[in-house]
Amino acid sequence: MKLSETPLINAATLHAGIQSLAAEISIAYSDTAFIMLTVLKGALHFSSDLQRALNPALDITSEFIRVRSYEGTESNSRAQILYKPENSFAHKHVLIIEDILDTGHTASVVQNYVANQKPASIRFCTLLDKPDRRLVPVHADFTGFTIDDHFVVGYGLDYNEQYRHLPEIYTLF
Ligand code: XMP
Ligand code: MG
Repeated sequence: MKLSETPLINAATLHAGIQSLAAEISIAYSDTAFIMLTVLKGALHFSSDLQRALNPALDITSEFIRVRSYEGTESNSRAQILYKPENSFAHKHVLIIEDILDTGHTASVVQNYVANQKPASIRFCTLLDKPDRRLVPVHADFTGFTIDDHFVVGYGLDYNEQYRHLPEIYTLF
């Protein structure tokens, strides 16, 4: 496997996309306390930058969930929850933060986990969306970038745990 020579999404473009997502989210939750539920490990970098771009006056708490669905570059329909959030989502407004929406299996596992706790609302924010790959219908309320069907790494996204540290998003081929 080889990295593309130039990024698919460079740092300036990522920054602009995240500022614009943060503006949308800040308006959507201006009157509502909410929980940002970050899906580890891939969304860590995105969530960290997104949270710091939000209006500081918002009422936000942070939770994490870890789900594994991929081995190598193959999605796996048996997504497993490896780490569960500490607090209940009952009666809370929950915004799920994902790195990438691909087949939709991982998103639906996370959404079902949250929905079972009877939250006040669930919304979904993803940095990247690969709509051509969708097998399970999942609606994203906030999307950073829609991309073609490439396997991408960097900015939190990995190939067998490698490349998460890269500051920009590259294609692996
Ligand atoms: P599903 O298929 O469940 O996939 O929607 C979502 C999860 O799979 C990972 N994923 C990727 N990771 N490059 C990656 O590094 C990719 O192109 C890619 N596509 C999917 C990701 O962890 C996401 O949470
Ligand atoms: Mg991954």
